[in-house]
Amino acid sequence: MTTRINPSILAADFANLEHELGRIASADLVHVDVMDNHFVPNLTFGPQMVGRLQEVSPIPLDVHLMISDVDRWAPGYAELGAFSVTFHAEATDAPVALARRLREIGARAGIALKPGTDVEPYLELLPEFDQVLVMTVEPGFGGQSFMPETMPKLERLSRVVRETGLDVWLQVDGGISLDTIGIAAEAGADTFVAGSAVFGADVPADRIMALRDSAAAHRHGPVPGTGSLVG
Ligand code: DX5
Ligand code: ZN
Repeated sequence: MTTRINPSILAADFANLEHELGRIASADLVHVDVMDNHFVPNLTFGPQMVGRLQEVSPIPLDVHLMISDVDRWAPGYAELGAFSVTFHAEATDAPVALARRLREIGARAGIALKPGTDVEPYLELLPEFDQVLVMTVEPGFGGQSFMPETMPKLERLSRVVRETGLDVWLQVDGGISLDTIGIAAEAGADTFVAGSAVFGADVPADRIMALRDSAAAHRHGPVPGTGSLVG
């Protein structure tokens, strides 16, 4: 099973982003938090900035849109060449149409759920998506504490993905550290966003490796031939 670590550049030095990207070149993807000061009470970067990051990044971009009006803005990020574009379920009435548009352009389509958003209505839409992002903090800021109460949602998603055999990545974002990554891995996450835990480390590459090892050690795998799960 693949375990992905996606450092969030929200915790990087914004004055030296190209250098910061170099420090996390051993990661799987770079997580780019786009905020509009409307969907969330914080403002980061827009398409022009993300386009430039796309040009200089040694690893693919995992764009997390914490913005309103995604139907208008999300396709532009796919057109810039982002590997994945994730929009919030709470920000559109037409998630399937938008996901199809993103895939058509060539990006992986992701849907993000805030901690208070129920997953049930989205389960039947899973074939339309390549990844689901379960927010483990309220979106808007880095450095917050992991919310364990979001784990049942992840467990539910993980069960459905296993039962249906869909190839949907399950991502967690917010408060992921060496202390919490195991909890999310046990609940079924395979893709882990970490901002402060990576960029707050003396050597981000070492922290990426430690996070990956810890997640892998906590992930449950199927027992060959039995269809049941270890652990
Ligand atoms: C929060 C962002 C996260 C944030 C995570 O709204 O979506 O990606 O950067 O930061 P940490 O890992 O510090 O909680
Ligand atoms: Zn994020």
